Amino acid sequence: MRKNIVAGNWKMNTTLQEGVALAKEVNEALKDATPKCDVIICVPFTHLASINGEINQEKLGLGAENCADHKNGAYTGEVSASMVASTGAKYVILGHSERRQYYGETSDTLREKIALAFENGLTPIFCIGEVLEERENETHFDVVKKQIEDALFHLSAEEFGKIILAYEPVWAIGTGKTATDDQAQEMHAFIRGVIADKYGKEVADNTSILYGGSCKPSNAAALFAKPDVDGGLIGGASLDCASFMGIVNAF
Ligand code: 13P
Repeated sequence: MRKNIVAGNWKMNTTLQEGVALAKEVNEALKDATPKCDVIICVPFTHLASINGEINQEKLGLGAENCADHKNGAYTGEVSASMVASTGAKYVILGHSERRQYYGETSDTLREKIALAFENGLTPIFCIGEVLEERENETHFDVVKKQIEDALFHLSAEEFGKIILAYEPVWAIGTGKTATDDQAQEMHAFIRGVIADKYGKEVADNTSILYGGSCKPSNAAALFAKPDVDGGLIGGASLDCASFMGIVNAF
């Protein structure tokens, strides 16, 4: 059966020293805890190796926030999936709306990134979600379905089974405006149906679908109580150990 997961996405926040301190704090908080979910932090590339040396990945998984769409070579400033894996990281966020919006990521580049993540043993946390205008003109289901079809539906059932999905309505990211638990459930159930139509009910039932967008300790329990919401991808609230742990403990 699918796992419950709470994953932090630190985005472009914290210096190396601040990030190592925060990771150590979360690691310490989890040391004697038995949370009802897997816990992961996705951190800037520059922090990965140092943080890997400070945490117990049995209790706190480590991931990157992106990787390159090429294997290696003359791509100044890029960081490859094999480089990420060589730090000890196990996960990589792909297709975050900020990457799609500000760095022009398309389903074509994302297919390359997914293939490279798999080649290097990384588990993709793949993000999908509509912008406000699409929600308002009621195309949000079509938009999300197309994002999944275009970037993921070339995968075999076995490969698809390794992906963690994150539904992040763009209008809820960093805005303080959360999708209601009913809105999240409605979309998550829809996504599970789309997966079931392609890969069958068993694969769909085994896929973890996280919610992201202004998730915090005060709203996490209601979101996570919904049957198709299997956890959260947490931005701002993952930058503070107490609030991140408050979300972890909402399960
Ligand atoms: P916030 O939790 O800050 O809204 O960010 C959500 C997000 O984008 C996680 O990937």
